[in-house]
Amino acid sequence: MNQQNHSGKSPKPNNDRLLERIERLGKIGGLSGGGVCRLALTDEDRDGRDLVLRWMKDLGLSTSIDKIGNVIGIRPGLEDCAPVMMGSHIDSVATGGLYDGALGVLAGLEAVQTLNDTGITTRHPIAVGYFTNEEGARFPPDMMGSAVHQGSLSLEEALSTEDKEGISVGSELDRIGYSGDAPVNDLVPHSYLELHIEQGPVLEESGITIGAVTGVQGISWMEYLLNGTSNHAGTTPMRLRHDAGFVAAAVTVEARSIANEIGGHQVATVGVTELRPNLVNVISNHARITVDLRNTSEDKLNLAESRMNDFVVHTSENEGVKLEQQILARFTPVKFDDDIISLVESAARDFDLSCQRLPSGAGHDAQMFAPNCPTGMIFVPSQGGISHNVKEFTSPADIAAGMNVMMKVLTEISE
Ligand code: GLV
Ligand code: MN
Ligand code: MN
Repeated sequence: MNQQNHSGKSPKPNNDRLLERIERLGKIGGLSGGGVCRLALTDEDRDGRDLVLRWMKDLGLSTSIDKIGNVIGIRPGLEDCAPVMMGSHIDSVATGGLYDGALGVLAGLEAVQTLNDTGITTRHPIAVGYFTNEEGARFPPDMMGSAVHQGSLSLEEALSTEDKEGISVGSELDRIGYSGDAPVNDLVPHSYLELHIEQGPVLEESGITIGAVTGVQGISWMEYLLNGTSNHAGTTPMRLRHDAGFVAAAVTVEARSIANEIGGHQVATVGVTELRPNLVNVISNHARITVDLRNTSEDKLNLAESRMNDFVVHTSENEGVKLEQQILARFTPVKFDDDIISLVESAARDFDLSCQRLPSGAGHDAQMFAPNCPTGMIFVPSQGGISHNVKEFTSPADIAAGMNVMMKVLTEISE
């Protein structure tokens, strides 16, 4: 029999069941060494989507797939009003771990199953979603599906985005059967919650179990295409070179200097360097590099971007290398809802768990919801601060702690 939950206590999730689902999903696209490769819209991503969609249906959720391939399952509430949504992503980087994204989606399913088991109907409907291409590793920008869902990126732009082989998001969605009919930019949840691994060292270093996430730092991704001239490595005097590889390397070193000089939260990464023809005795005629700059302060991020840009332009000119550049992603820093941050802290207190406020260094689907509805995130520690690595690990006890806190916050918000 359905009953409304007036007790103020949250029902107890089954953490073993959550871990089993994480392990099951982790087998899809599984890599030797324990991680996963489920790059967005590949066959492995499709197989992961199929499994989670089946789980949603088994739990009685009414599911829909929208035009950018986001999958949402809804459990009705006592009132026909906006749902409280939990979500994240199940795509991964090529060297991904089992927890990044998967935890938030599967914790959402565990919350639903816990409500089903205890026969509780919440006042608000509950929604669980997994959003297309959060990682952006194959098709930049990251958070693509949630950005389209919440209206900050146009559907047309997202569908026409191509990977480096020239294959588009739209054609891959068709191919894997996830180009759905549901409209995008149609649902503003009552509120949005995401449980995620920290993916950094802060919680573990301070011996804290729960992170009450205050927001997400700003993200700037640039791609630089550098075109010089190939020539003989032995015969070409240094003064006559137009070496795209040299400019790529100089930019990489400068990115580190900019981060060190700005200091504080500033980070800088050159994650892609592709050289052509990539031969020991040939000067590179082409380089493709990417620069990822992040900061919690928009002013400092702007400063890092303009310093980087000036350096790339001048170094290319001096070397006689032609430069083309493209913005791959740009997100301003986001602040989460004060009430949800406080609810996370008080839920952690209720379970006698240590808790600390911290900003997120990684991008998350939650940041796309934050401008439109009260949004919050709960972090649990990442062993060794390692993520985007097959060795990514969070202990079962920490996962259980995060799940308990999310269940408690969900119970409070959805009543
Ligand atoms: C994406 O999740 C990122 O932070 O790079
Ligand atoms: Mn993630
Ligand atoms: Mn990630």
